[in-house]
Amino acid sequence: MRPFDAPRPASYAPLPPPIGPARARRTALPPGPRSRLGLGPLLRFQRDTPGFLMRLRAEHGDAAAFLLGRQLFVAVFAPAMVHDALVARQHDLVKGVGFARMRLVLGEGLLTNEEPVHLRHRRMMQAPFHHSRLDGYAALMADLAREEVDRWRPGGVVRLAPAMMSLTLGIVARTLFGTDARAHAGRIAAAMDVAIDRIERTMLPGLDRLDGLPLPWFRAFRRASDDLAEVAEGLVAERRARAAAAADGTAPVDVATARREEDLLGLLLALRDEDGSAFSDDEVRDEALTLILSGHETTANVLTWAFSYLAAHPGARDALEAEADAQDWLVTGRAPTVAELMAAPVAGWVLDETLRLSPPVWVAPRRAVVDTELGGVPVPAGAHVLVSQYVTHRDPAHFPDPERFDPWRWRDGLERRLPRGAYVPFGGGTRRCLGDQFALLEGRAILLAAARRVRLEPLDPARPLPAAQPRATYRARGPVPMRVVARTPSRTPQAAART
Ligand code: HEM
Repeated sequence: MRPFDAPRPASYAPLPPPIGPARARRTALPPGPRSRLGLGPLLRFQRDTPGFLMRLRAEHGDAAAFLLGRQLFVAVFAPAMVHDALVARQHDLVKGVGFARMRLVLGEGLLTNEEPVHLRHRRMMQAPFHHSRLDGYAALMADLAREEVDRWRPGGVVRLAPAMMSLTLGIVARTLFGTDARAHAGRIAAAMDVAIDRIERTMLPGLDRLDGLPLPWFRAFRRASDDLAEVAEGLVAERRARAAAAADGTAPVDVATARREEDLLGLLLALRDEDGSAFSDDEVRDEALTLILSGHETTANVLTWAFSYLAAHPGARDALEAEADAQDWLVTGRAPTVAELMAAPVAGWVLDETLRLSPPVWVAPRRAVVDTELGGVPVPAGAHVLVSQYVTHRDPAHFPDPERFDPWRWRDGLERRLPRGAYVPFGGGTRRCLGDQFALLEGRAILLAAARRVRLEPLDPARPLPAAQPRATYRARGPVPMRVVARTPSRTPQAAART
């Protein structure tokens, strides 16, 4: 099994040393809090990172440089700077703090690996996400979404956050592993929960040195990481054994199994580079784990926030219900096509607006490997760089009344009119999210399936929105219980479309 503390691979670009207080004083930098000990910023950063970044923006403007743990950070907020960091000058930067710890869990998968490994893997892994495969996924997403919503009893209470987590984990496990992973769903979910929590409390540089400490909190992190690696290795080994047995004729090939082998894991094992080389078992394990983690936690959080915003905004909720009633696939109970799901505008605007206000990836840490300039801001080699979707998506110049949940702002093609870098829930450049279309499709299928059958209402109408608990992703705090209210939907799509 992969060692928990495997070193940074030697083929990656060497990391320049971090910039300490003395060098920061001699360097031309944007304004920001840079006291020698930096204790105030450190405490504020740890207590409430999004609040800390919002305050930096309010006090210092488009960019700010500050010291944290005696290391220099440059936060860039203006769209042009964000675009440079994610796209135009992306090769001057590598993934930063947080990702080093994510590597302890995910190894060298697509989210955490760096060049030259990343581009080879990225090219090979586009195939499973090609839009020609999405129709098959859409049917499965809709089926699982309807199954989940059918379990919600009108008059009862649904614990929305865990419900969304298990639904999206079920979807990614089924698309990724066929049925194999279902037996391990509980173990995967428990380990992921610990991992996500521990990864994030670690935006502070240097904290990774503590991971080896024999304390229960850190031991649990190591155990979660080992558990996940073991599950993934088991799945890969089973699949390889089955393929080998089928190839030498010692196992009968039945059609249902053969069909399942076309899932993502089957594809990962079959993938070949241009020179014919395949992924090793270790590489498949790391990529499989990466897809499980990045493929469910983010989407679950978006949906938990989306249902919460809808419960607080009856106008948007009514419009979504009318849209759901006009969906032929929901009325007749058949599988939807990608085209049908993508032609449901209200569901799309609700997701766009939720991704703006509560972006699951709310901060993208980077490290400058050469001296560079981001939107005119000088950034020395070795500096940590922070891009924050949470802050940039709240720029009143591009999103008037930015704290207001207003899906209709997306109605007239706002996204096309925005400057590059102003709205980046899926990142950008070669590190852009691989599953963006998958996630949007899944989000639409789940929102519409739920809106057709039930209405979710907050238990406490005075506090419809849950508190945030930003971790490796932007989570809602607690299980987010919601009351399930029955709906009487229109019986035909035509009738719904007329209303
Ligand atoms: C609403 C849901 C999602 C959001 C908001 C989201 C957001 C992001 C963002 C911002 C990044 C870039 C991180 C960075 O640059 O530091 C990313 C990367 C990635 N995402 Fe997603 N993601 C979502 C869903 C998914 C799904 C469903 C999958 C797979 C099934 C997925 C797979 C990946 C992978 C593999 C990467 C790494 C890509 C690379 O570096 O080449 N994501 N995601």
